[in-house]
Amino acid sequence: MIALGCDHGGYALMQEVIDYLEKQNIEYQNFGTYSEDSCDYPVYAKKVAHAVADGNCEKGILICGTGIGVSITANKIKGIRAALCGDCFSAKATREHNDANILAMGARVVGAGLALEIVKTFLETPFSNDERHIRRISQIEQ
Ligand code: RB5
Repeated sequence: MIALGCDHGGYALMQEVIDYLEKQNIEYQNFGTYSEDSCDYPVYAKKVAHAVADGNCEKGILICGTGIGVSITANKIKGIRAALCGDCFSAKATREHNDANILAMGARVVGAGLALEIVKTFLETPFSNDERHIRRISQIEQ
């Protein structure tokens, strides 16, 4: 189950992400926002971060205008490793090296075509399970 959240700046791109997930038969839970009316990104970033941190959702995707506000917010929640990605190399590397559990993107930064490739890469890339990466991730929480 993938937790989804966005603000008004990310709403249009999130509809594209939802279309992609539905075509791939990937289950999701949409925590909003549900329109392009102006809203506060921390509200939605926290909902998604808690759903992932509590284990109710396996991963999350957050979108705002830049991706910065939602990633800063999500990373305040214990156990969350939110990665702001604007390219597929970073999306792959952050899954392999950081076991990132939330993907953050900026709708004013990446176009829909690239964003969907980033989503695909993030969701399909497993954590490497390398000892050095496990050690470094454990140090984040210490
Ligand atoms: C909203 O205008 C914008 O500030 C928000 O989407 C995001 O970019 C914040 O980091």
